Amino acid sequence: MLTSHEITDGLKTRFIGKKLFVFETIDSTNACARLLAETGVENGTIVYAAHQTRGKGRMNRRWLSEKDVNLLFSVVFHPEFAEQKYFLVPLMISLSVVETVRILEPTIALQVKWPNDVLDSDGRKIAGILTELTRTYDDKPRIVAGTGINVNQIDFPENLGSKASSLSVVCGKEFDLRLLFHTLLERIEERYEQIIVAPELLVEAWRSHCTLFNKKVAVEQDQRTVLGIFRDIDSGGAMILEDKKGGKIRILAGDVTTVHY
Ligand code: BTN
Repeated sequence: MLTSHEITDGLKTRFIGKKLFVFETIDSTNACARLLAETGVENGTIVYAAHQTRGKGRMNRRWLSEKDVNLLFSVVFHPEFAEQKYFLVPLMISLSVVETVRILEPTIALQVKWPNDVLDSDGRKIAGILTELTRTYDDKPRIVAGTGINVNQIDFPENLGSKASSLSVVCGKEFDLRLLFHTLLERIEERYEQIIVAPELLVEAWRSHCTLFNKKVAVEQDQRTVLGIFRDIDSGGAMILEDKKGGKIRILAGDVTTVHY
């Protein structure tokens, strides 16, 4: 596992990771970061763990990860932008993951999947992001952005079938977790600041790594499934779906799969 020194020494960020909590095993870095956020920890506080016993995924799913070989962490943000831009946070992190891998392995092109996944070129999942909103005891908004990246894991549970992969499987080499983490945190900080000053650049960059535009998709939500053509994302990170009648629907959450109908 990475030690706190390995994480902080040489990390070239301004605010991300200046406060750091490191665990060998924890239930969920998001659950911990959420509690810390509510007590008022600094902007950019990180909770990192080598292993989670109750890793949380989106839509009440679990996030399973082998001990020590992957990256599991959550960042507490103090959003200094309007609520309409909160949905840009998972997009910003998935973009940062793709860019990090591009920096370290220029021949590997991963893709972002709306709203919060990173996939390999065969559509297998490499990373997932779970953002949660909470408030401090004195009612200030906080965003907890939890990221799980399959890095050096080679075998995956059978029930995931061929849906999961890792950087190591894709690149055929083992990754240096420390270098990957540093590069990623530096990317995240740069892209996070863009949410404040130039969100259109962030959205444009995200678009350039998305391969689902103009495809027919099904968006599964809690109570319903919406069908349509994935036309774009807007300046707030929402999906713009075109329905059968050509109408535009703005979608903020859901699980996307490509369909033929
Ligand atoms: C998803 O794809 O459903 C999101 C998965 C998010 C998993 C990460 S692992 C670190 C952080 N802590 C958690 O409990 N979940 C997130």
